[in-house]
Amino acid sequence: MSPDGRRPLVGGNWKMHMLRGEAEEYCRSFVTGLGDVAAEVALFPSHPLLPAVAGALAGSPVGCGGQDIHPEEKGAHTGDVSGPQLVDAGCSWVLCGHSERRQDHGESDELVGQKADAAIRHGLAPLICIGETLEERQANRTFEVLERQLGRALAGRPDPFAVAYEPIWAIGTGETATPEMAQEAHGFLRELLADLVGDEAAAARRILYGGSAKPGNAAELFAQPDIDGFLVGGASLDPESFIAIIRCCG
Ligand code: PGA
Repeated sequence: MSPDGRRPLVGGNWKMHMLRGEAEEYCRSFVTGLGDVAAEVALFPSHPLLPAVAGALAGSPVGCGGQDIHPEEKGAHTGDVSGPQLVDAGCSWVLCGHSERRQDHGESDELVGQKADAAIRHGLAPLICIGETLEERQANRTFEVLERQLGRALAGRPDPFAVAYEPIWAIGTGETATPEMAQEAHGFLRELLADLVGDEAAAARRILYGGSAKPGNAAELFAQPDIDGFLVGGASLDPESFIAIIRCCG
């Protein structure tokens, strides 16, 4: 727990990995190996795996979530997935605005906000992903980008939510933000949240770090006052390394 009472949160973003058999096997060894931990934990498998993963996690404290959500409840949107479908598949969380969705599918800041609103409408907690590119960081535009992305994601006042700060240059590259760099961004986001949602909600909402988080760097990142856990990609594909990261969070 942070001094403000925030329970750590760790998400495993499987991206477009795993088949059903592997996913079920993973969940079995993950749940057995995890034991008692301080953090809240959720897995984010790709959509076809959700029922199997939710089934395999049933009765355990581990939740699951979708990797995307369409703003509308249903309709002619080929390839998309709706909030009610995610809930029906056993989700309690959903990622909104992951940088790979923004880059591969041209998701705008406004669309990410609509997705976060849709999540809340359907009883899902949005994990809103934001982060700057390498060019933006080098041009000293990190704070400006984060302010724009977070402001637009929260424009409809979705609540509760969690935020994942994921510098794009650190995702899947093996390059991690130093604890100082990450804390600088997280501290900025905490202040920004106070402006956007008020002091009390800002102190209560969790801000996760994402971008090559691994067992070897998680403890020193988590030691920063405004880092409340992780959104883990590559290292979440192996239950043992994912558990090691979760254990770094209190
Ligand atoms: P990574 O991915 O841990 O593989 O860098 C993080 C993410 O994209 O959520």
